[in-house]
Amino acid sequence: MKPLLQVEHLSVQFGGLKAVDDVSFEIWPNEVFSLIGPNGAGKTTIFNLISGLYQPSSGFITFEGEKISALAPYEIARLGIARTFQNIELFEHATVLQNLLVGRHCHRHTNWLQDLLFTPATRRAEMQFRRTVEEVIEFLDLQHYRDQMVGGLPYGVRKVVELGRALAMRPKLLLLDEPSSGLNVEETEDVSFWIEDIKHDLGITVLMVEHDMGLVSRVSDRVLALNQGEMLTLGTAAEVQAHPDVVEAYLGGAEDDPPPPTPRPTGGGDGSSPPAGGSMSHAASGLGRPGAGGGQ
Ligand SMILES: Nc1ncnc2c1ncn2[C@@H]1O[C@H](COP(=O)(O)OP(=O)(O)OP(=O)(O)O)[C@@H](O)[C@H]1O
Ligand SMILES: [Mg+2]
Repeated sequence: MKPLLQVEHLSVQFGGLKAVDDVSFEIWPNEVFSLIGPNGAGKTTIFNLISGLYQPSSGFITFEGEKISALAPYEIARLGIARTFQNIELFEHATVLQNLLVGRHCHRHTNWLQDLLFTPATRRAEMQFRRTVEEVIEFLDLQHYRDQMVGGLPYGVRKVVELGRALAMRPKLLLLDEPSSGLNVEETEDVSFWIEDIKHDLGITVLMVEHDMGLVSRVSDRVLALNQGEMLTLGTAAEVQAHPDVVEAYLGGAEDDPPPPTPRPTGGGDGSSPPAGGSMSHAASGLGRPGAGGGQ
């Protein structure tokens, strides 16, 4: 078996700061791989490097054996890498359905003339888009919200819509940046169910950045801990949590303290404002688990 994604001696520097410093790892097909580490460890920067928003200072990334570190973000998306953002990035003045249709846009192969004339090829593509998006709506239980403006939705629902937009791309690799940030305990548990369904029912490989160690332990096959841009250790969630370097990174070296890194209650470690409506009820959040998975 070949790795789906390979990160080789990856580094990026911003001025004098080494945000990512010689990081290497590979992700195997159908695994859930998590990146953990204190604020500023370089986790989101690695996502930005994989999705093409940043160019590495040195090292490279391959996806299905192809070097992607010099490609543009839309080219990387088209190869099958989708992501969510640490701060939700949606079109607030568009409906849930419209936001999800945007997720399909990178797979559009008709040209402007075909679209203008609404040729059979355009019609077929449009119907395929709609079908995929409707499957995602069903999978994530978003039917109730499909025609509502995103801007008026509770934070927890917008978080699911963003996940839906990434899934609408039918990615091979899904990057989730802090999927539980701002969610309550019950909603976070729902996220763990989504991730398991995404892995088992949809067969999508997941790379996740997460501070909630409960969620990390529940869903991750392997975990890589980072600190100040450098790799600390890689292993199972339990191995990584017990590693002395990880304990030190989180607790500042207090040797007698208990080992597990403490979960951060709300997200947005990059200065984002705390989410509004973070404690909405389960029913209102739209985070209910789908009854029977669903296949795309
Ligand atoms: N575009 C940029 N320009 C300058 N510095 C940056 C840039 N992007 C990230 N950094 C810096 O790189 C370091 C790593 O940031 P990054 O956002 O990757 O951390 P993180 O591990 O995701 O942290 P958090 O858990 O708080 O989200 C930080 O010191 C950050 O300030
Ligand atoms: Mg981050």
